[in-house]
This record gives sequence, C-alpha cells and structure tokens, in this order.
Amino acid sequence: MSKKQIGLFVGSLRKASYSKVLGRFIEGLSSDEFSYSMVDIAELPLYNQDFDDHGPVPEAYVKFREAVKPLNGFIFITPEYNRSIPAVLKNALDVGSRPYGHSVWSGKPGGVISCSPGIYGGFGANHHLRQSLVFLDVYPMQQPESYLANVNTSINEQGRLLQID
Ligand SMILES: Cc1cc2nc3c(=O)[nH]c(=O)nc-3n(C[C@H](O)[C@H](O)[C@H](O)COP(=O)(O)O)c2cc1C
Repeated sequence: MSKKQIGLFVGSLRKASYSKVLGRFIEGLSSDEFSYSMVDIAELPLYNQDFDDHGPVPEAYVKFREAVKPLNGFIFITPEYNRSIPAVLKNALDVGSRPYGHSVWSGKPGGVISCSPGIYGGFGANHHLRQSLVFLDVYPMQQPESYLANVNTSINEQGRLLQID
C-alpha cells in the first residue's frame, strides 16, 4: 500500500520559528501509512486576482498549486498573530483556492496545530483557520484539538522539540 502524502504548512517565516520546529518534528516521524513533507509558502507573492484573470500567473503560484494538488491531506501548524493566523498562511490558502472552481484544497482532510509562547496556545488562530478550512471544503480534523501553549519551553537551545504534554 502506498503511503498517504500529508503536506505540512507552517505559518511563520521566522528562522528560529517554534512552528517550524514542530513542522520539522512531524516531517521526521516515520509511519507505514503516512509520509509528511513541508510545503514552502514563503515565496508566494501576495494574492492578486489579476494574475489569474489576465496573467501572467506567477511561477510560484503554479508550483505551489501543483505541489498541493496530489496531496492526500494537510496539517497546518500556525502561530497566532493578533488573535488570527499570520498573513503568510492566509495568503497560501488564498493562492491555493483560485482560480475560481480550481481550488487545490477541496475534499481533503486537514489537521490544525496552533502554538504560542503564551498561555492560550494560539486558540484564536486555530479557530480562525478552521473557519477558512470549512469554507474551502477541507474536512477539518475535530479531535484531538491541538493548542500548544508555552511552546518555547518545549524546545531546546538546538531548536529541537523536547516534549509535548
Ligand atoms: C505581529 C505579531 C502578533 C502576535 N500576536 C499574538 C497573539 O495574538 N497571540 C499570541 O499568543 N502570540 C502573539 N504573538 C507572539 C507569537 O506567538 C510569537 O512571536 C511566536 O514565537 C510566533 O511563532 P513562531 O515562533 O513560529 O514564529 C504575536 C507576534 C507577532 C510578531
């Protein structure tokens, strides 16, 4: 049986990002059923509908959409920016959702992990993201919910994940 391909989408551009540490941790998990790989969202120009309506469509959009299409599912790992998701992650959702009628997200399952050095674990971001996923016809995984609070205390000086309780 071939493994299900799960794309990891990390909502931070920061070099020492805690979310990226979580993403790399998941990428390193081995399983007979699933394989995990990060999908780069950093190079996507801000979504502009004119690109799709009148061209030229940026090469980065084409590559991203081609990378997402064959995936069997998604895991979104996001920090919280002002009680919502960072713009870079929303941009990736928007780019993948267009041109109209050709969304690359539809009909696939998606898990959400939010994290924060704060005590609420990115709850606001987690649920804003879920709102968009419902509209995009992603099946958001309901349980387990994953709000990783104080995430900085779970990562050592080498940028490795210590534990998740
Ligand atoms: C613009 C901005 C807004 C932020 N807003 C929140 C917030 O609403 N809630 C929160 O818990 N942390 C907030 N933070 C702190 C982030 O959780 C923290 O910077 C975190 O390390 C970002 O994730 P990363 O390590 O993956 O880059 C904010 C940070 C920035 C830069």
